[in-house]
Amino acid sequence: MAIIKKFRITTFKKQINKILLKNISLSYNKRQVLEDISLSFREGEICGLLGPNGVGKSTLFNIIVGLIKPDYGNVSINGKNVTNIPIYERALNFKLSIVPQSGGVFSELTCVNNLIAVGQVTHKDKNLINFKVEKMVSKFSLDAVKNLKAKYLSGGQRKKLCIAMALMSDPKIILMDEPFQGLDIMSTKDLQETITNLQTEDSTRCCIISDHAARDLLAICDRAIILANKKIIAEGSPSELMNNKNAKQIYFGDAFKLS
Ligand SMILES: Nc1ncnc2c1ncn2[C@@H]1O[C@H](COP(=O)(O)OP(=O)(O)O)[C@@H](O)[C@H]1O
Ligand SMILES: [Mg+2]
Repeated sequence: MAIIKKFRITTFKKQINKILLKNISLSYNKRQVLEDISLSFREGEICGLLGPNGVGKSTLFNIIVGLIKPDYGNVSINGKNVTNIPIYERALNFKLSIVPQSGGVFSELTCVNNLIAVGQVTHKDKNLINFKVEKMVSKFSLDAVKNLKAKYLSGGQRKKLCIAMALMSDPKIILMDEPFQGLDIMSTKDLQETITNLQTEDSTRCCIISDHAARDLLAICDRAIILANKKIIAEGSPSELMNNKNAKQIYFGDAFKLS
């Protein structure tokens, strides 16, 4: 896989934290999944959240958006403690969007009506909503299926619709949970370009993307964090991670190469 990103943020002039997690712990039915996790996601970066299946990536995303409350620890967005703030307030006040790992669309609505439905939450002007819907349909090559109910879309098309829906609100923070899952090679490349363009269009936007396999994600992120065994085991630029002993031993293995 070729490296898609033309530049990488290697030093952040001002490291402004968009999201700060402090000492997060969470158990499901007494089984601990996350233990004392502290980390930040910064303004302007594309940050990868990597880790094997079942390690807690989706759980961490759900904690950030407010679907799950951690047992311990705090979540701050733009410097404000939001641990007790509900999902919709986080979404609206901080322009936070999520592309969930599965679901995320209204199956009985057409693509266009799915886009309109989420557009109406954040925008009042009908013309603006219609303009944005057309833009998304074209950006994600959904023209041929725009009037099809979402339940009839292929997995990849549904994923694209989900991402388009998340972008309708012009998010300042966007979390994508395994967006490459189920995409074919060309669609993967298109999505990688779409994500890097999100950064170019708005240099203060923060994109956080999870993936259980590293290659598609490391090609586009400035920084990545690896979760394993309830903890963060490594953090850094893709090349730093490739040389990280912990990351190699616990996550990548010896044979893994970036290109
Ligand atoms: N609601 C739940 N109840 C009990 N266990 C759960 C629940 N959600 C997730 N888990 C478990 O927590 C672990 C982490 O899940 P998840 O965050 O979905 O991992 P990942 O996204 O990294 O694959 C997994 O072992 C999963 O089975
Ligand atoms: Mg997951």
